[in-house]
Amino acid sequence: MIITIDGPAAAGKGTLAAKLSAKYKYAYFDTGMVYRAVGLEMYLRNLDTADEKAALKIAKTLTFEKMMELSAHPDFRSQIGGRNASIVSAYPDVRAALLKMQQDFSENPVFADGTPAQGAIYDGRDTGTVVCPEADIKLFITASSEVRAERRYKEFVAKGMDVAYEEVLADVKARDERDANRSAAPMKPAEDAVVFDTSTLNIEEVFAKACEIIDAEIDKEKR
Ligand code: DC
Repeated sequence: MIITIDGPAAAGKGTLAAKLSAKYKYAYFDTGMVYRAVGLEMYLRNLDTADEKAALKIAKTLTFEKMMELSAHPDFRSQIGGRNASIVSAYPDVRAALLKMQQDFSENPVFADGTPAQGAIYDGRDTGTVVCPEADIKLFITASSEVRAERRYKEFVAKGMDVAYEEVLADVKARDERDANRSAAPMKPAEDAVVFDTSTLNIEEVFAKACEIIDAEIDKEKR
């Protein structure tokens, strides 16, 4: 079973994916990590994210293990980490270089400890359209930019980061603009995706609806 969850930053994709992964015991791949890893590696090597060639070189040599190692860095999930990821993810060749690593996971989904799983849950921007166009279930989770900025702001504050709400909102809007308007794999729902707006639905409601869809698919596959 392959499930994709796409949508803009801080829409609730990760929370939903983690809940579904725990319930159905499917392995979870947060695909933003591949772009965060490339962006962070550039930052750590003092490379300018405008240098597309340098970004491509890093993308071509990125391994799953290296990505996991970089994910422990404090800037992996910081504002700078998100901004750099969004910039390098707009380069078509960088996306192409990172595609196979993402697709391979669906062939052989495993949990962090290496245990094999019966299915995979992807979260990202293009997992239903480009990474796994043949996925069994495609979800697209969205929310207004203000609601998402508020969530991100609270996460940063909870981590002790010194940020202003207005700055987070401006960043969310800039990332949406870049993610939705880039030429390579712009963020948009797959034609066969089910769309949820979490500005009006809480995560438990979205989770319940997603479970209904997955249970129906499991029943269908049994028949
Ligand atoms: O989901 P995230 O915030 O960790 O993603 C970081 C950036 O990576 C985001 O701005 C867009 C990009 N991204 C992408 O282009 N395609 C994906 N499948 C996942 C993330």
